Amino acid sequence: MIINEMTKINIKKKKILIRLDLNVPMKKNKITSDARIIYSLPTIKLALKNHCKIIILSHLGRPVEGKYQKKYSLFPIVKYLRKKLNNTTIHFSNTIDNTIQIKHGEILILENVRFNKGEKTNSKKLSQKYASLCDIFVMDAFGTSHRMEASTYGVGFFSKIACAGPLFMSEIKSLTQAIKKPKKPVVTILGGAKISTKFNILKTLSKISDTVIVGGGIANTFLAIKNSVGNSIFEKKFIKSAKKLKEKYNIFIPEDSKIKNENNECIIKNSCSILKNEEIMDIGEKSIIKIKKIIKNAKTIIWNGPMGVFELKKFRSGTEKIAYAIANNKNAFSIAGGGDTLAVIEMFNIKNKISYISTGGGAFLEFIEKKDLPAIKMLKKNVLSNNNI
Ligand code: 3PG
Repeated sequence: MIINEMTKINIKKKKILIRLDLNVPMKKNKITSDARIIYSLPTIKLALKNHCKIIILSHLGRPVEGKYQKKYSLFPIVKYLRKKLNNTTIHFSNTIDNTIQIKHGEILILENVRFNKGEKTNSKKLSQKYASLCDIFVMDAFGTSHRMEASTYGVGFFSKIACAGPLFMSEIKSLTQAIKKPKKPVVTILGGAKISTKFNILKTLSKISDTVIVGGGIANTFLAIKNSVGNSIFEKKFIKSAKKLKEKYNIFIPEDSKIKNENNECIIKNSCSILKNEEIMDIGEKSIIKIKKIIKNAKTIIWNGPMGVFELKKFRSGTEKIAYAIANNKNAFSIAGGGDTLAVIEMFNIKNKISYISTGGGAFLEFIEKKDLPAIKMLKKNVLSNNNI
């Protein structure tokens, strides 16, 4: 693949703009899993070693565009990095201003890119503004490389040099290797709350998998084909495609669920009899036993997303038991990815028992699906239009 790589070009003393994926899980403005920051540290350190002037961009969560919301501020991450890199000056700014002065060996972190109007729509004006900040643009946010946004895509078209960071390169090389010839049976486990991103790739995943096990909002959308799911998260617009997928592929939908009822009690119920005021929070025991069996026989496991609201202890057991079942299958090649999945892996201390861990969630699934992610396209085009390094 012809793209520029940060480790192969001269970045010494350059002003570089690095797009990272520091979208870490947070609770009350506190970081609950620092995995994505840890994975990004070697890139920051490489830039520091080269005495660059470093500007960092990232998103956090999904705020309403154009509006500041404290909940989504990158400030807790700035504080974390100040502690971690305590010999380095780290500035923080909420304006994109190319007159801001930083010295060589210093870092400037800009506030959440998704507070900027035009970020999500890949606005030309915003992309140009980002590009005007630097000599070299480094795309190292693999986790966001499936998004065609101003800071992940557009900026590359206005930067003289756009290159891939070390994490980005390691992700695409390792994932390409990992999915070359997957041993059968292939089992995909797909959970979490980001329903739309995942539904779009469910067809491809179903084609390459012998079984797809669904949990979280995706499972609820399948359940909603025939039943009420009460107050549970699901997406109405995907029910039709869920029905088609269910008819054609081997999709395991949890038959029982742990729910929260109107009195805030936690009970296990048949997934087909959820009432109006009830909310599915986890998978039930019967489903866990069946899923564990499927995982035990798998030779390749693709895992993205928790089975339920694992952040709350009483709704953790489904995710916990499935995580251990994946970790304990020594005969399978297991690939896991995504912000919440990284947090689960950390929580149950199973990092060494997963064959490959990706920082991407949707990005890693889309890469498996079609490989040519928007960020990769952008990096290729940048090489073609600036053949002058
Ligand atoms: C992720 O968590 O998958 C990435 O950070 C991308 O986030 P997004 O789905 O909000 O674009």
